[in-house]
Amino acid sequence: MSIAFLLNGTPVRIEGEAPTRTLLDWLRETRGLTGTKEGCNEGDCGACTVMVTDAGGSKALNACILFLPQLDGKAVRTVEGISGPEGEMHPVQAAMVAHHGSQCGFCTPGFVVSMAVAHLNGAVDHDDQLAGNLCRCTGYAPIVRAAEAAAEVPVPDRMKADALSLPQISPERSGEAGGLSSGFRPRDSDELADWYLANPGAVLVAGATDVGLWVTKQLRDLSPVAFLGGIEDLKAVEVQGGQLHVGACVTISALREAVKDRLPSFGELLRRYASVQVRNAATIGGNIANGSPIGDGPPALIALGATLHLRRGDEMRSMPLEDFFLEYRKQDRRPGEFVVGVSFPEFAPNLRCYKISKRFDQDISAVCGCFNVAVEGGVVTSARIAFGGMAGVPKRASLAEAALVGRAWTEAVVEAAAEAMAGDFAPLSDMRASAGYRMLTAQNLLRRYFHDLAGVPVSVLEVTP
Ligand SMILES: Cc1cc2nc3c(=O)[nH]c(=O)nc-3n(C[C@H](O)[C@H](O)[C@H](O)COP(=O)(O)OP(=O)(O)OC[C@H]3O[C@@H](n4cnc5c(N)ncnc54)[C@H](O)[C@@H]3O)c2cc1C
Ligand code: FES
Ligand code: FES
Repeated sequence: MSIAFLLNGTPVRIEGEAPTRTLLDWLRETRGLTGTKEGCNEGDCGACTVMVTDAGGSKALNACILFLPQLDGKAVRTVEGISGPEGEMHPVQAAMVAHHGSQCGFCTPGFVVSMAVAHLNGAVDHDDQLAGNLCRCTGYAPIVRAAEAAAEVPVPDRMKADALSLPQISPERSGEAGGLSSGFRPRDSDELADWYLANPGAVLVAGATDVGLWVTKQLRDLSPVAFLGGIEDLKAVEVQGGQLHVGACVTISALREAVKDRLPSFGELLRRYASVQVRNAATIGGNIANGSPIGDGPPALIALGATLHLRRGDEMRSMPLEDFFLEYRKQDRRPGEFVVGVSFPEFAPNLRCYKISKRFDQDISAVCGCFNVAVEGGVVTSARIAFGGMAGVPKRASLAEAALVGRAWTEAVVEAAAEAMAGDFAPLSDMRASAGYRMLTAQNLLRRYFHDLAGVPVSVLEVTP
């Protein structure tokens, strides 16, 4: 397998590496670039953050769950390439020194790269930008102060060089000739459709934020494997007839951009989806296809009445998204069939999405409740309520919905619907929450929704002294 990319400004070509070799291992073991640290090896701590530049811009990504073929035709900059050739510090490094942003220093390279990418992109929402970087000793206040101070200093030219140098590097892309063991990298969805039909047992890798952990934590052999990152026609977001059509390979970051003004509550939910690094890699297709009962995308999309689009060979089919999830980890997807995209209404003024997790940032939902109730003349005309974390699949609260439709939108009716919800779910107890907590929380989220639509502040972020 051949892969070509720029590493700290220098072209590299890799031959003969396994397609599931992670960038982190390769940097440390073959290049001696040990500034990129291994903390968790599962995308949670940000110690391995690198900057990756492609035609879409420069992004922070976690190198521990990034496979080498995902970098083909791109530019990678590690912490060693953030400082200047003579060792001169990047403005964020100088600010980290001046503001005492480091103690033991283990997390510092990851923070520095995240901060340098945010600095390059002019992002000043520092808490969000750094939510995927964990520090066990310094505390975050000095680090955020450093990021604020650095924001006043111009971006060094070397940070802009990767985008300008990209034309020097052309992707190697292995087609069928690349062989099954070397990782297939289709250029478009037609190529994928043909290949996947012939290789229905293959593993599809989109962002690798799930699949990466199968390798780093479960030590699984994934061969044969196909990388979907080069399929441009699955990366489109289009508006047509009041519907947003989102391709399967659209990242959660790009989806958030697309919905944040149209469907602000969905956008806010996605702000709390993992971290910048994970959102920059994870795709909505992967979030749906993995069939997780605790994914954040499906409940919001089901509440919106989304339609899922699938393809097997030349055959396309579509279905309401909720019908895709049959039972725990079992989806209505045939061998050789893949997710093409999802469509949903561009606007839904009454959509509200509530994520309940132990930590505000960078945490998986214990319960994710999404509500989309239409009220005309004081009467409920339609109701779509979907939850993650309440069953083995993302699931609608059908009894609660039935208790609302056709009735007056009043607190008493909402109370009755909350009671009816007890028949919709039999949630599990696990390390995230007990069954009793989940049920009470789900019912309370419906009550919260009622107050939210009435304009009462319901988020901790809205409470002011
Ligand atoms: C640190 C961390 C935090 C996370 N936090 C959250 C969170 O807050 N909320 C949340 O919902 N999720 C979270 N996740 C889970 C993960 O980000 C999502 O499930 C993600 O959307 C998966 O997308 P991906 O592109 O990375 O999929 P991949 O890992 O590439 O693939 C996932 C699965 O989907 C299949 N697949 C991918 N694309 C397709 C396709 N087009 N057609 C058919 N099958 C396909 C793959 O074969 C695989 O089975 C987190 C993960 C990590 C590592
Ligand atoms: S080592 Fe923790 S995110 Fe990569
Ligand atoms: S400085 Fe020690 S973990 Fe952050």
